[in-house]
Amino acid sequence: MRLSLIVVLAQAIAIHLPVATALSPRLPHESLAGLTHEEVEEFARSVDIIGAQPIPPPLTDTSAKLVNDRAHPWRPLLPGQQRGPCPGLNTLASHGYLPRSGVATPAQLINAVQEGFNMGWGVAVLVTYAAFLMDGNQLTNLMSIGIKSLLTGPPPPAPAIVGGLSTHGTFEGDASMTRGDAFFGDNHSFNETLFQQIVDISNKVGGGKYNLSAAADARFLRIQQSIATNPTFVFSNPRFATAYVEAIFPLAFFVDGRSTEQALDLKVMRGFFQDSRMPRDFFRRNGTFDFGTAGEGVQFLMNAHPFFPGFNDGAVDNFVPDPDFLGNDTEILCALYHKFVNITVELYPNPRGALRTALNKNLDNFFVPVQAEGNCLQSHPFP
Ligand code: HEM
Ligand SMILES: *[C@@H]1O[C@H](CO)[C@@H](O)[C@H](O)[C@H]1NC(C)=O
Ligand SMILES: *[C@@H]1O[C@H](CO)[C@@H](O)[C@H](O)[C@H]1NC(C)=O
Ligand SMILES: *[C@@H]1O[C@H](CO)[C@@H](O)[C@H](O)[C@H]1NC(C)=O
Ligand SMILES: *[C@@H]1O[C@H](CO)[C@@H](O)[C@H](O)[C@H]1NC(C)=O
Ligand SMILES: *[C@@H]1O[C@H](CO)[C@@H](O)[C@H](O)[C@H]1NC(C)=O
Ligand SMILES: *[C@@H]1O[C@H](CO)[C@@H](O)[C@H](O)[C@H]1NC(C)=O
Repeated sequence: MRLSLIVVLAQAIAIHLPVATALSPRLPHESLAGLTHEEVEEFARSVDIIGAQPIPPPLTDTSAKLVNDRAHPWRPLLPGQQRGPCPGLNTLASHGYLPRSGVATPAQLINAVQEGFNMGWGVAVLVTYAAFLMDGNQLTNLMSIGIKSLLTGPPPPAPAIVGGLSTHGTFEGDASMTRGDAFFGDNHSFNETLFQQIVDISNKVGGGKYNLSAAADARFLRIQQSIATNPTFVFSNPRFATAYVEAIFPLAFFVDGRSTEQALDLKVMRGFFQDSRMPRDFFRRNGTFDFGTAGEGVQFLMNAHPFFPGFNDGAVDNFVPDPDFLGNDTEILCALYHKFVNITVELYPNPRGALRTALNKNLDNFFVPVQAEGNCLQSHPFP
């Protein structure tokens, strides 16, 4: 099993699976009032059928550079704009690397995570399409980085949901570092109590900063807490991988690119997590963050606190391992890939016409980085 693959997947896994009950209230009509001209235009466009689009290319210049620049100022949220469970995407939206509405196309997401944070092309493509297949609108080619939004256009029929990244489901993101489990209600807002745990851990084992030792303890503590308090806790394929890679991301992306220190100032960390805000004069990382780098970090965390994928079996403190988490695969990357394909099939049991065409193209796009990294069989669920 290749740990670097775990990483990749991990973030991909971040994508919550929609369930039929997870529909959020529709945005009131008035909420459009707060939108800019561009965003209203975007809304108008969103009712057109766009379908799947080609994957944008890798960055050519991946050096460290000023990204909190004049062209990308932080701005507070206006009514109707939304953010979700991912501090990385939230920050890109609040600095205008993504539409400030919080609704974006896969190409916009892939370009923004590369340009703003130097996420490697393969990681960016894999995570984006895994998310988009679960939570995006295949017809209008738009996805919300928060809760369900009218801006993504009319959704296809159930069981498809198109709920946005905040949607919880069978693979909902339990044991997040700064967000609560869906079982307790709010699953995507910054939680001060949880952030304070990270501060305490960082003071104890990181010399006052979030470093790899702090990441390992913070990740492990959240798993223990969910085991002890959430009877519905699920931490198997694909969520376990995501959760580990997410604990590495703050070190990978939120440390200034001119620094070689593997530790994150806690005030800077809070800015990203709570306010979706880069510090003044922020430089993105120097060089891309790829599967290999991610794997090293995840390996450190797993060595510090070994664990096996599993779930609470209907009661707290009742964590049972899931020996079948790899399905019919032997490589973790392939198992993650096939899991997302399986989920896509659950959401779209019998797609037709333009929807089927778009799904097939997006499944092909999803497989591109999988094929480049691993030895996995491509699935063709909609021949
Ligand atoms: C490429 C597209 C991306 C997608 C679709 C995505 C999606 C997500 C989702 C759905 C979650 C929530 C998982 C959960 O905790 O339940 C998440 C968490 C997270 N993401 Fe992203 N993400 C992306 C890129 C990034 C980038 C570029 C960064 C950093 C710059 C980042 C940093 C994080 C962090 C630190 C968390 C963990 C938050 C916590 O546990 O409190 N993500 N992401
Ligand atoms: C996730 O959080 C959102 C926002 O608080 C909420 O609307 C939704 O119902 C939650 N999902 C679940 C399954 O609890
Ligand atoms: C934040 O998380 C803590 C610990 O899980 C929980 O007790 C509290 O209710 C959460 N706060 C909010 C506002 O959701
Ligand atoms: C984290 O920081 C603490 C305090 O400086 C240090 O003892 C520890 O070795 C660091 N962890 C890693 C993995 O570098
Ligand atoms: C980025 O790394 C390269 C070597 O890989 C180095 O020459 C360059 O000075 C670094 N840039 C910054 C801003 O640290
Ligand atoms: C996906 O579904 C297929 C067919 O039901 C099953 O054989 C396979 O094990 C599943 N893969 C994963 C990773 O769950
Ligand atoms: C595993 O299941 C998937 C369906 O999820 C299928 O496409 C693939 O061919 C299967 N792999 C093997 C080795 O049987």
